[in-house]
Formats: sequence, C-alpha cells, structure tokens
Amino acid sequence: QRKKIMNQKIKIYQSVVTGIGASLPKKIVTNKDLTKIVDTTEEWIVERTGIEERRIASDNETTSSLGTEAAKIALQNAQLKNTDIDLIILATATPDNTFPASATVIQSSLGIDKCYAYDMQAVCSGFVFALEAADNAIKAGNVKNALVIGSETFSRILDWDDRGTCVLFGDGAGAVVLSSTEGSERGILSNHLHSDGRYGDLLYVDGGPSTSTNVGYLRMDGQGVFKHAVKNISSVIEEALDYNDLKVEDIDWFVPHQANIRILESVAKKVGLSEDKIIVTVQKHANTSAASIPLALFDAVQEGKIKKGDLVLLEAMGGGFSWGSTLIRW
Ligand code: UT7
Repeated sequence: QRKKIMNQKIKIYQSVVTGIGASLPKKIVTNKDLTKIVDTTEEWIVERTGIEERRIASDNETTSSLGTEAAKIALQNAQLKNTDIDLIILATATPDNTFPASATVIQSSLGIDKCYAYDMQAVCSGFVFALEAADNAIKAGNVKNALVIGSETFSRILDWDDRGTCVLFGDGAGAVVLSSTEGSERGILSNHLHSDGRYGDLLYVDGGPSTSTNVGYLRMDGQGVFKHAVKNISSVIEEALDYNDLKVEDIDWFVPHQANIRILESVAKKVGLSEDKIIVTVQKHANTSAASIPLALFDAVQEGKIKKGDLVLLEAMGGGFSWGSTLIRW
C-alpha cells in the first residue's frame, strides 16, 4: 500500500481566475448630495479621500441580491453553468441577516443545491481572506470551481450624523470564479494573511447579536487606522514580494482595497511602486469594504488593463485589524 502511494503522481492544482463580474446599486450619491444632509464640503471629501461619488443600495437591493448579480456575470464570463460551482464564499460584514449565511441565499438564487457555501467575515480584508480559503480548497483537490464574492451594503450600518465616517463608504459587489487547473503557470501564487485583535477599538461596529442585540453603527478613529494601514499594507506587499522572490517592478498591476487615495499614494511611495500601475476606483465607488477589490479588478479587466499572464498583486487592510495580500498570475 505504501509503495502504491509513493508511486502515485502528485497532482498540483492551481486556482486560476476564469471569470469575473460586478454589480452596483443604481443610485449614485455625489459629494454634493451629501452636503445637503451632513456638515461637510465637496472639497474636504475629495482632498482628504479622493472620493467623488458612491452607490447606495435601495430598500430592495441587498448584500445577497448584489452578490447574486455579480456572481451571474462572473459565471457567464467563465462560461460555466451555475451547477458547475462546488463552493461559494461570500466575503461580507453586512450580511442580509445574522444567519443563515448570505452565501446560502446567493446559492439558492443561483439554483445550486450541491455546493457548500459560507460567509467570510474579515471586513475590508474579507475578499483576500476568502480567496485564500477557496485557493486552499482547490489546491487540496476538494473543489473544482469556486465562486468568491465580495458584497457589502455598508450604507445600512453608517451613522448618517457622523460626518467622519458616513462620507467614506459605498455599496456594491464583485465576484470571481476560481477554477482548478492542473499544472498551470497561471493562478494564485501566494496568500499572506494577518490579524491583530489589539486594535479592534479603532474600527468597529457598536452593536451585534450577542452584545446589544441590534445591528449597530460603524465607528472609526480615522487617523489611527490610517497610520496602521500604511504600515501593514506596505509590509504585506514586501512579504509577498520576498516570498515569491520578486521585485516591485515585476508586478504588472497592483489592485488595492480602495479606502483612501492618500493611503494608496503613501504606500506607493513607501514600497517604490509606480502609481500608474495602481488600479484606482475609490473616486466612483468610495470604500465598499470586501467588495472593493473585485469591483476594481472588474473595472481593470473591462478596460483591458489586466490581461492573461499579468502579475497582479491584491492587498487589503481593515477592521480587526485584519490585512493580507494575494499574488495572482492572471
Ligand atoms: O477600509 C478600512 C480602512 N479604513 C481606512 O483606511 C480609513 C483610514 N482613515 C482615513 O482615510 C482618514 O483618516 C479619514 C479620511 C477618515 C480622515 O482624514 P484625516 O485627514 O485623518 O482627517 P481627521 O480625522 O484628522 O479630521 C481633520 C478635520 C477635523 O476637524 P478639526 O478637528 O481639524 O477642526 C474633522 O472634524 O476634518 C474634520 N472632518 C470633516 N470635515 C468636513 C472630519 N470629517 C469631515 C467631513 N467634512 N466629512
């Protein structure tokens, strides 16, 4: 028996992105619109964050409905049937309900009854955490096709009287299909994830099922988060480069979590990254938490920037703190 196992050829599966999709709420809210409901100015928002507008979900648009639409487009793009999916991971901090997992709502909307589905909660880093989990399932040989979705309706947990936070976030969803491909040079090359719970009180929601029993509102010490974001993002980029024996110039596209243009500029300066390689969508989406990376990826692919074979580095940092990176040969 041992000899038989030793003689078996070890199969190496790569998780290749075979489809991508996105979905945004219909309603656009500009900075000017916000000046009518909160004590702010268009100049302050643009200068301090780079945000010009954001999408806000209407009552009938939910995390699962936006996620379902993004998933349908990704499946079409991958030329797969819905039932080809073995695993759905939904990265979200704003599920439809406390349970069941909104991933299962999406599963049902897609008419899939044979896959497993769950929510991943790592706030703004959720998408890279979900990619890692799906990648591991594929590399273990357990899953052939996985849908990895980031979908959020942060507008529902914003305190619209707090100008320090309500101008920063938006709603939306993005999705990728990862397909197991034997021996490919393409696919996910590395994942590096981190958490540090000591900083939970710099960015959190002041409610939840086991504490206040209500949903609560987002609270943030913006400057505190900013400093850690630049430090952690820079170090996780360097970690990915070191691990893969690459230089920053080797990266074709850098697709960061979109929180603040000034964070991206500071990180670019710190790690020596050329700004024209950074995909920036914060001006039109604002911070969409776990949805921001797949939304930015979708835009970059649609615009013909990211192409097959490109080296694409994703990174995110958010509440917890949690942060991480994913390197993909597209
Ligand atoms: O996705 C998760 C990760 N999140 C982040 O990465 C967010 C990180 N933080 C940030 O992006 C920035 O810290 C903010 C955009 C949140 C804030 O920018 P800042 O340059 O750090 O501003 P601040 O908080 O130091 O506030 C500066 C001033 C204050 O007034 P005083 O005390 O100087 O008179 C604020 O009251 O700006 C004031 N302010 C505003 N003014 C107009 C805060 N919010 C607003 C506003 N409109 N919306």
